[in-house]
Amino acid sequence: MPVLAINGGTPVRERSFHPWPVPDQSDADAVAAAVLSGEWSHVTGPNLRAFEREFADLQGARFGITCNGGTTALEIALRAAGACVGGEVIVPTYTFVATAVAVLRAGLTPVFCDVEEDTFNIDVTSAEACVTDRTRAIMPVHYGGRAVDMDAVYRLAAKHELKIVEDACHGWGASWRNRGLGSLGDAAGFSFQASKNLTSGEGGFVTANDEEIADIASRIRRGGDGEKAGRSVVFPGNFRMCEIQAALLRSQMRRLPEQNRVRTENAEYLTDRLSEIDGIRVLKRDPDVTKSSIHVYLARFVSDEFEGLSRDSFIEAVNAEGIPIRAGYKAPLQEYELFSRGIESLQAENGYSMWTPGTSVDYSKMETPVARRLCLEEVITLSQPVFLGPRSDMDSIVEAIAKVRENVGELIGARAAS
Ligand SMILES: Cc1ncc(COP(=O)(O)O)c(C=O)c1O
Repeated sequence: MPVLAINGGTPVRERSFHPWPVPDQSDADAVAAAVLSGEWSHVTGPNLRAFEREFADLQGARFGITCNGGTTALEIALRAAGACVGGEVIVPTYTFVATAVAVLRAGLTPVFCDVEEDTFNIDVTSAEACVTDRTRAIMPVHYGGRAVDMDAVYRLAAKHELKIVEDACHGWGASWRNRGLGSLGDAAGFSFQASKNLTSGEGGFVTANDEEIADIASRIRRGGDGEKAGRSVVFPGNFRMCEIQAALLRSQMRRLPEQNRVRTENAEYLTDRLSEIDGIRVLKRDPDVTKSSIHVYLARFVSDEFEGLSRDSFIEAVNAEGIPIRAGYKAPLQEYELFSRGIESLQAENGYSMWTPGTSVDYSKMETPVARRLCLEEVITLSQPVFLGPRSDMDSIVEAIAKVRENVGELIGARAAS
């Protein structure tokens, strides 16, 4: 008689996990009040102004600029920080493609470096090997809401005079040595897209500590040069957020501290329990990661300790038990066609000539062995809503993984027979 659900056994769990987003009447009231106020202008909208202050304060940044998405936030941050057109920017290869797309959109060339297997964040030794005389900036991505080791980033940036633009798109409420993500470099970008821990469906935010960078970011975002009429050389776009979104974000933000607390407690409990299962590797604990926002929970699957079972077969079996684990990104970014076919092809096929990256790099020569192994064989992920439920939800995750491990012979046997 099969035991595993994938083979017809009874699944560990049939209930779904916590839903996302979490709307309630107070959100609807906040949006209704913003609608009825008639103050919809980007210039005078009171929720926009208040949210800029409140979210910048939450992250410990001096200045905050709302915009329409995380990708644009990163593009604006790169441009405002002065990572001049034509240069190269070092980007960790394990990230959402938007990190690198923002670099291209800012007229720069992404160069991909490896990540650390025990944090999934940028490997600064690998980043240093990517530095050339054209490198202008480094983009630490606080992946999943876990802070990058900024000491190493600061050393590299100081040595080579690089701008630091943080991809803090997962960093709401998170900190490194009690300093908010987004306040640690020259500028940073956040995302409020629908899956994010703080969301208005879409939306983005730029943080900066330098007044001039913030001023340039605000002018790029605004789409015109406003009070500097006629005298600005900043090339703008219309990247504005709307007042109604800001009202929703302010309402949602009231729940963020408590939601972050619940996620963190559950994630820590899960980490303790998963670390007892052979073949599952949890991320390194680091006291400098003072608050993590747990947007993506990451761990590694070690096939050799599951009798050679593939990561993807493991995921299928755990999914059948009712647990929504996923594989994460399936390839390092330089292997995506967008990059592997070369920047020239990207420009030609997209008619993308206004922002012309000034350097051409050979993506086929970029080797990131750790990220490659992670993507192809090891990464397993759980997304943030899973961590909003009761502790018993964590127990069911552990139970399902342990069940698959104990009965791995059923999967290996089935594979050999087919
Ligand atoms: C790491 C990272 N950077 C950038 C972005 C882009 O944000 P948006 O989708 O709001 O443009 C995302 C979005 O998922 C992301 O995960």
